[in-house]
Amino acid sequence: MAITPRIHTAVIPAAGQGTRMLPATKSVPKELLPILDRPALQLIIDEALGAGVDHLVIVTSHAKPAIENYFATDLGVESSLEKQGRGVLAEQLRRYRQDVRVSFAYQDQPHGLGHAVACAREAVGDEAFFVMLPDELMSDSSLLKDLATLTQSTGVGSVALKQMPTAELFRYGIVTPVGPMSTVDGIESLPFITVIEKPNVADAPSDLAIIGRYALTPDIFDLLDALEPGPSGEVLLTDALSAQADVTPLRGVISNIGRRDIGNPQGWLEAVIEAGLQHSEFGESVREWLRTQI
Ligand code: G1P
Repeated sequence: MAITPRIHTAVIPAAGQGTRMLPATKSVPKELLPILDRPALQLIIDEALGAGVDHLVIVTSHAKPAIENYFATDLGVESSLEKQGRGVLAEQLRRYRQDVRVSFAYQDQPHGLGHAVACAREAVGDEAFFVMLPDELMSDSSLLKDLATLTQSTGVGSVALKQMPTAELFRYGIVTPVGPMSTVDGIESLPFITVIEKPNVADAPSDLAIIGRYALTPDIFDLLDALEPGPSGEVLLTDALSAQADVTPLRGVISNIGRRDIGNPQGWLEAVIEAGLQHSEFGESVREWLRTQI
């Protein structure tokens, strides 16, 4: 049986200030805001583990110690859960730290996504890696698995794409496709040559937006290090992707995966409601209650 190619490391940029969710994020990092009973960050981690990741690189800032605390072992909590007969939850907490190695990298200045990824260089080493933007929750690990297969088979970076309505294009990195779709190891993808970050409608090269999942090759680090910050003071990951794609086109997987943008209050609320409705124990009563509200 063929072995499915894996990517072992996922970089999760989590140093941002979360200003769109203030005042909630004044003392709680946005990545730790709960989606029902689990922090959003845990849902990202679960997605990564489901794709075979065994090393997380969390790019955080010294101003957000709660992120590191989330990964600290608390034997006291685990043993009191055991004593209360809540062994299942204790086991869940234990598993969280056993299934994966966690490294931290620090980005103490808001110099953009490209800079955040560059900060992870030492922890990642010389192998392909995922970048997972924690503002976006995906319904399962299938997209990551597809990106891993594609990048490990072709040797070039790949990104998740979604067709967006014109009015939404200015929020995203938009790719310039070249050539037709093709299938590698059962995964359909589209080659692209440049990425334009948050274009005006008139300048958008297509309607294909990068959504927050990437499988990247380690040569991206030299390109990131060579970039100067743009007018906003940020180093753009999209500029490094364009530089890479200039040499060999990168690949985009057009996906319709269930996806929620939780970086704004309405998106976060929708994710929480959805999690409530899907809950095995009280989903049905939440549904009943919701019906009475509208
Ligand atoms: C970032 C990237 C952008 C990408 C988007 C996906 O933008 O810079 O290319 O399309 O994530 O959510 P941000 O949302 O951080 O402004």
